[in-house]
Amino acid sequence: MVSQISTHAVYLEPILVRHQHRDLLQILIDVQEHYGYIHPDAIDYLSSQLKLPRSTIEGVADFYSFLYLQPCGVYRVLFSDNITDRMSGSTALMESMCSQLWVEAGKISEDGLISIDTTSCTGMCDQGPAMLVNNLAINRLTPTRLTAICDLIRARVPVSEWPAGFFSIENNIRRRDILLGSHFQAGSALTALLQRGENETLQEIKVSRLRGRGGAGYSTGAKWELSRQAAGNARFVVCNADEGEPGTFKDRVLLNNFADMVFEGMTLCARIIGAARGFLYLRGEYRYLLEHLQAVLKRRRQQGLLGNGILGNRDFNFDIDIHLGAGAYICGEESALIESLEGKRGTPRNRPPYPVTHGYLNLPTAVNNVETFAAASLIALQGGEWYAGIGTEASSGTKILSVSGDCECPGLYEYPYGVTVAQVLADCGARDTQAVQISGPSGVCIAPDEFARHIAFEDIPTAGAFMVFDQSRDMFEVARNFVHFFAHESCGFCTPCRVGTSLLSNMMDKLGEGHGSPYDFAEIEKLNVLLQSTSHCGLGQSACNPVLETIAKFRPAYDKRLVHKDFVPAFDLDRALSQARQMTGRNDTGAHLARSDD
Ligand SMILES: Cc1cc2nc3c(=O)[nH]c(=O)nc-3n(C[C@H](O)[C@H](O)[C@H](O)COP(=O)(O)O)c2cc1C
Ligand code: SF4
Repeated sequence: MVSQISTHAVYLEPILVRHQHRDLLQILIDVQEHYGYIHPDAIDYLSSQLKLPRSTIEGVADFYSFLYLQPCGVYRVLFSDNITDRMSGSTALMESMCSQLWVEAGKISEDGLISIDTTSCTGMCDQGPAMLVNNLAINRLTPTRLTAICDLIRARVPVSEWPAGFFSIENNIRRRDILLGSHFQAGSALTALLQRGENETLQEIKVSRLRGRGGAGYSTGAKWELSRQAAGNARFVVCNADEGEPGTFKDRVLLNNFADMVFEGMTLCARIIGAARGFLYLRGEYRYLLEHLQAVLKRRRQQGLLGNGILGNRDFNFDIDIHLGAGAYICGEESALIESLEGKRGTPRNRPPYPVTHGYLNLPTAVNNVETFAAASLIALQGGEWYAGIGTEASSGTKILSVSGDCECPGLYEYPYGVTVAQVLADCGARDTQAVQISGPSGVCIAPDEFARHIAFEDIPTAGAFMVFDQSRDMFEVARNFVHFFAHESCGFCTPCRVGTSLLSNMMDKLGEGHGSPYDFAEIEKLNVLLQSTSHCGLGQSACNPVLETIAKFRPAYDKRLVHKDFVPAFDLDRALSQARQMTGRNDTGAHLARSDD
């Protein structure tokens, strides 16, 4: 036992040193990278070295879907399960892979070589169907590419030796405006800040009327001012790059192509609020961006744009660490993200107090979305008036939309706020459109009679997802996919959301299988009231939205499944008895339960 532990120490000690014996989540991610799962001996070692009970370590590992407490295959394949992946054939591809490699979905092959399962949207909706293999993204799957992947797995070729082309990820920038079209020079916004002064730059951010691009739309100037004024002997800047909302992928491209603009926005914020330390919380699905982002940070340190004495100012010290997520959508919620940064389970905190006063380590913390920080850099350069002159009165500046689904040119489209849904549809080459889901499953579903509406905080606010569905799509299946997403991603902290999202999922499955009745609609309404009034965070509060929206606007998709007028239980007793019938070799009428509608 002792010698086994000391064998593990050879691998584990450098991991602990790398993470300074804290940041449990980052330590576990590295442990998993080494062993393929969280080895029980590693838990013992971490427990003794970090002075944490085993149960705490297991509790954290258990929370994140990319961490495994049991062996899970040398090759861990996860198919992205957003509705857009399904629309481009992901279900058939997964079935084909399972049959080619003789493995059941959700299980490990008998020889321990491979496990295949689904995961929530991997942020590649413009180039699906997509999958992760050992956390690395492979997109544009076709039957041919899939067979080649199966051959590589059978031959046990390490993923690092697979053809590089499999891992190439496109940016698909289709429409550029002030942000995607800018030729930003690293350091230019910081120079402008130092010339103008912190107070004056904060004033510019306020004048610009910039609002957060991560969903809630809170005033960025007000957030930075509150963080700056809050009591505390240290402050933090956090960039939220968790981007888990299905259908959203703009932050992926911003980090890939505009990382300087994002890091510079974080550094501006640090100077204004008085922070010396910042974090970029990068979703695990974007693991492939890590080396690139580390290289940009390194270069910025060499250029004097990060570290001690930024641009020669002895009192300007700030640096940024990158923390990886591990497959938990809820960690995009800012207080859950902070818990995760602290190495814990990503459970949302009670709010208030808000992160601006009680954030990371309970100290003042400004959390902003990737796009918000990038926009702040432009404002520091060009001024608040300039920015406020773009867009609408209540929504200044531009918004980057992640367009996917039934259109010719999926990708990123940047528009001044106020653009109509119809304009976006025309630009992306959408035809015969039945519906657009804006801002992901928790957002709104727009029918054609609403296409003149505007993308703006005062009309349709969005974090960026814009999923297009043409007339061939079944809007019931769209809603069912979203509801399954919520049930899968509920963190389980509060009972109404944990149970309610599962009940909702079951009801949609029941409707889908033809066992629904009008009573189920009434039940869904009741569930919505319960979830909205008692859920602890936005996930539970918005979980019924996709169903209610599609019932209201696409009722025929539901009506065609309503075979019964009276209540039908979700549990089908007759079907449950089929195994007993098989065992007894009976299938006569007497072996079946009489149905009331027979
Ligand atoms: C369930 C849930 C998931 C969220 N996911 C994200 C996310 O992936 N990225 C993000 O920037 N904000 C996300 N948010 C919003 C954040 O809580 C927070 O408002 C945002 O990071 C603040 O930045 P902003 O002011 O720049 O928008 C999420 C909120 C909820 C309730
Ligand atoms: S509402 Fe759902 S996701 Fe949010 S804290 Fe409760 S259980 Fe977790």
